[in-house]
Amino acid sequence: MKSILITGGCGFIGSNFIHYIIDHNQDLRVTNLDAVTYAGNEANLENIKTNPNYHFIKGDICDQELVRKIFVENDIDTVVHFAAETHVDRSILNPLEFLHTNVYGTGVLLEAAREHWQKNPTGEHRFHHISTDEVFGSLMPNDSAFNESTPYSPNSPYSASKAASDHLVRSYFHTYQLPITISNCTNNYGPYQFPEKLIPLFISNAIHGLPLPVYGDGKQIRDWVYVEDHCEGIYQILSKGKVGETYGIGGNNQPTNLEIILEITSLLDEILPQSPHKPHAQLIQYVKDRPGHDRRYAMNISKINRELGWTPKESLNSGLRKTVEWYIHNANWVENINKNKEFNHFLQTNYSNR
Ligand code: NAD
Ligand code: TYD
Repeated sequence: MKSILITGGCGFIGSNFIHYIIDHNQDLRVTNLDAVTYAGNEANLENIKTNPNYHFIKGDICDQELVRKIFVENDIDTVVHFAAETHVDRSILNPLEFLHTNVYGTGVLLEAAREHWQKNPTGEHRFHHISTDEVFGSLMPNDSAFNESTPYSPNSPYSASKAASDHLVRSYFHTYQLPITISNCTNNYGPYQFPEKLIPLFISNAIHGLPLPVYGDGKQIRDWVYVEDHCEGIYQILSKGKVGETYGIGGNNQPTNLEIILEITSLLDEILPQSPHKPHAQLIQYVKDRPGHDRRYAMNISKINRELGWTPKESLNSGLRKTVEWYIHNANWVENINKNKEFNHFLQTNYSNR
């Protein structure tokens, strides 16, 4: 790894990964390609922007000419592909944007990698595709967790578009021997997550005394991984993972949404004892369920543990405490997003008729 292209590096996981990789590998040249959509935020990388090993290009992964040029000019040998439309609720409102970025955009990157690496066959190359456990569909309460051989069964336009992109990446290995790896990770949480997702939305709303809108009965189950653990897992796959393989990544926990929400509200009661909104759990409101809402996700992480020695370091308890504290200490970061017109329009559209 000498010259790495990170797509979507201004988003939640991508920016955490750039922080991680710049700390862990000082010899690497990092190029970040990000269109800075509503979810992208250059402020996430404020303290890195003057690092001589870091280079930011504002642009779209669907722009074939630009992507080709980036490969040639930077002699890219490694890709970590995060860029995507990622919010399930938005995919229900506007599915075509998900198809375009997540499927076509991945195709453009694969083609550019294939072309550049075919012309420059010497040295090691890797295309790592970041995906989600949501491609496997929904589990019943007593079903075993997903693993790397679970058949795909996506239920939302988001997960269907991610599933399609996974298939495309896989096909480039089988057809062109492009050296790919894929990781399917569970729900992430931690610093820099856009406050449309459950954990940051509920922290921000609770701090401001706004309602906490629980979809349906709140008994849906997710497996939550702290974002830095996910970044470490990706780094292990880049360093030691086997080409052509898929790795599941997760946090080894199974809370219901309501359990997570009550943990957040009690952390806020403890950390903000003077808050006028205490007890914060009084802000919980049950609202109309998400259409097609997946009931349960869980990921078996024994393959990455056994083959690469990776295991999550953070427990849900310690990770949630760090996350709540981060959002309290970075109130300006959240306020700047909360002022955004597009975000307010989305909140209005998604929540007003629930
Ligand atoms: P995010 O929504 O926070 O960020 C996405 C980033 O991609 C933004 O910076 C955005 O500007 C950029 N982007 C979007 N469209 C683009 C385009 N056409 N060209 C260039 N850049 C574009 O997403 P995230 O939560 O950081 O997720 C990153 C990846 O991880 C995604 O592929 C997602 O499917 C996957 N993933 C996320 C989670 C999770 O819990 N957040 C879990 C598993 C997998
Ligand atoms: P989310 O963070 O959107 O991630 P995903 O849908 O990809 O798992 O949602 C996590 C869970 O929280 C999911 O079961 C939906 C639920 N949820 C709510 O109950 N209310 C909300 O306002 C949001 C955003 C999510």
